Amino acid sequence: MSNETLANLAHEDRRFEPPKELAEHANVTAAAYDEADADPEAFWAKAAERISWDTKWDRVLDWDNPPFAKWFVGGKLNAAYNCVDRHVEAGNGDRVAFHWVGEPADDTRDITYAQLKDQVSQAANTLIELGVKTGDRVAIYMPMIPETVVAMLACARLGAPHTVVFGGFSSSALRDRIQDCDAHVVITSDGGYRRGAPAALKPAVDEAVAQCPGVEHVLVVRRTGEDVTWDDQRDVWWHDTVEKASTDHTPEAFDAEHPLYVMYTSGTTGKPKGILHTTGGYLVGTSWTHWAVFDLKPETDVYWTAADIGWVTGHSYIVYGPLANGATSVMYEGTPDTPHKGRWWEIVAKYKVTTLYCAPTAIRTFMKWGRDIPAEHDLSSLRLLGSVGEPINPEAYIWYRDQIGGGKTPVMDTWWQTETGMHMISPLPGVTAGKPGSAMKAIPGVSVDVVDDDGESVGNGNGGYLVVTKPWPAMLRTIWGDDERFKETYWERYAAKGYYFAGDGAKLDDDGDIWVLGRVDDVMNVSGHRLSTTEIESALVSHPKVAEAAVVGATDEQSGQAINAFVILRESALKGGEEAPDALITELRNHVASEIGAIAKPKSILVVPELPKTRSGKIMRRLLRDVAEHRDVGDVTTLADSSVMDQIQEGVGKGS
Ligand code: WTA
Repeated sequence: MSNETLANLAHEDRRFEPPKELAEHANVTAAAYDEADADPEAFWAKAAERISWDTKWDRVLDWDNPPFAKWFVGGKLNAAYNCVDRHVEAGNGDRVAFHWVGEPADDTRDITYAQLKDQVSQAANTLIELGVKTGDRVAIYMPMIPETVVAMLACARLGAPHTVVFGGFSSSALRDRIQDCDAHVVITSDGGYRRGAPAALKPAVDEAVAQCPGVEHVLVVRRTGEDVTWDDQRDVWWHDTVEKASTDHTPEAFDAEHPLYVMYTSGTTGKPKGILHTTGGYLVGTSWTHWAVFDLKPETDVYWTAADIGWVTGHSYIVYGPLANGATSVMYEGTPDTPHKGRWWEIVAKYKVTTLYCAPTAIRTFMKWGRDIPAEHDLSSLRLLGSVGEPINPEAYIWYRDQIGGGKTPVMDTWWQTETGMHMISPLPGVTAGKPGSAMKAIPGVSVDVVDDDGESVGNGNGGYLVVTKPWPAMLRTIWGDDERFKETYWERYAAKGYYFAGDGAKLDDDGDIWVLGRVDDVMNVSGHRLSTTEIESALVSHPKVAEAAVVGATDEQSGQAINAFVILRESALKGGEEAPDALITELRNHVASEIGAIAKPKSILVVPELPKTRSGKIMRRLLRDVAEHRDVGDVTTLADSSVMDQIQEGVGKGS
């Protein structure tokens, strides 16, 4: 987005007041802001009463050794007990936890809290049999099936932090993550369904595990029934073990700061960061925000986060937040276009979904498909909509509100990150007059600011860097095994102020509302998925025919950003001046997919004779972005060789 567009954006005059009925019965009112401002710790202490503690904490926040926070010090609890058992004990065992919808039509399952409790206990007993002990890491590589949730909660029940690896990632990505957190058990399935056909997962696990000598067991769910290769010593079927295990398992209470999970996310270097979340603060933060931002009424709402569990959105708002709140959720295995483009709306109508949470990229896709498709379905049950993962442009916001929400639903544009664990900036449905395109302001109990290079507030009407100025309960505690990188990445830049640097640019409009503009580092946001330019560059360079690569994220109407790669080939690959054949480009794209995952495939790859570099050898991605976005190339005077850009642009003429 250009600065001009942004300036225009931030002059949005439309306002949408909360619906009267919703405001009157809202879980949270405007008083929450004052209450939280007066004493944030007391505010979070009160929010913590939503959770069942085995032992109550004696200190809300220990920030004596920043940036290493401890929340609810001395408290003990079990996350799985909070998500499952306590609802059964409270007499809500018959409530549906998940309406699960498989991709093949009619493949559905309803799972009650009582059933979930039994299954989680069985899986916990099986993991114990497989040697998993408190503190051990377990990797989970699964499609969107109920067993994925069961597996996560079984780990939580044992205090064995899970690391869920998105099923779309490649075997190398899986291998790196297993190795980084040294997991000894992997939970997977034979495969899942993708656009009408089975898509295998087990082969990728076999390949990854071949290079992970630490892995002792692979627990496999049978989902598609396709043939899999089997290692009798290592592999065990879920149906032979979990489904036959005892449903009795007494959860143990763990320290509030006991690790709950590690979620890998892209940073500015090639190596993904293992973001560590711990138990107490994370559950308090996710359950409170899920209740407040979505105005959750667990008895009557049907809540649906249309995201994959392999991302943080799935962790916080499919699993931990909703289950801690005793919500009834929809969980959907497939894509929006299979078997037809009205699948989501069919699901909303069938289950009378009240609350839908998805990414702007999905909304833009639906816009492209046209309003007639949702109009064929009864969407009148919807009372609230949410958006996450990237800036939602005002046009998409309005379309979402009107065509999906019937012009009556508030839209919650939630800004947060893998690192923050929970919503940080968002409207509140019963309080905020929504402004299309703005995430509005920090939720009660959270403090953010937009600052300049020195950490000074930029003030209304200005842009700068988004920071969080006070610790919050679901904050990341560190990067797995790398405290130094944790300090350096998030806290060094504003060390004098003690601010958390989010890596996003933002603007405060004249009312002081926040417009998140996107990443200010080498992280791209493609269809709401975080990918690092360096990670893709490393993947390209690992191909024998590539000598050097530079990757930029260029603005793309559909996916927010699109991956554009520029590569220099090794001499042996191509004779001078020869145009790169399509087959080679395809080979390189597939190579990236096999190194990282299909989501990381560059949209375009341009073979260039040279890359634009400064005299100190730094690639000037800004110039490549100009090329990718078909703009006039900006200032080239700092280039070591200014003719490079002419050569590149000549190549653009020939196409890629
Ligand atoms: C971006 C996803 C604008 C942002 C929960 C952030 C957003 C990154 C929004 C985190 C939003 C997320 N408006 N941008 N409402 N929500 N982002 O870790 O750049 O996958 O830093 O977490 O997504 O992505 P992550």
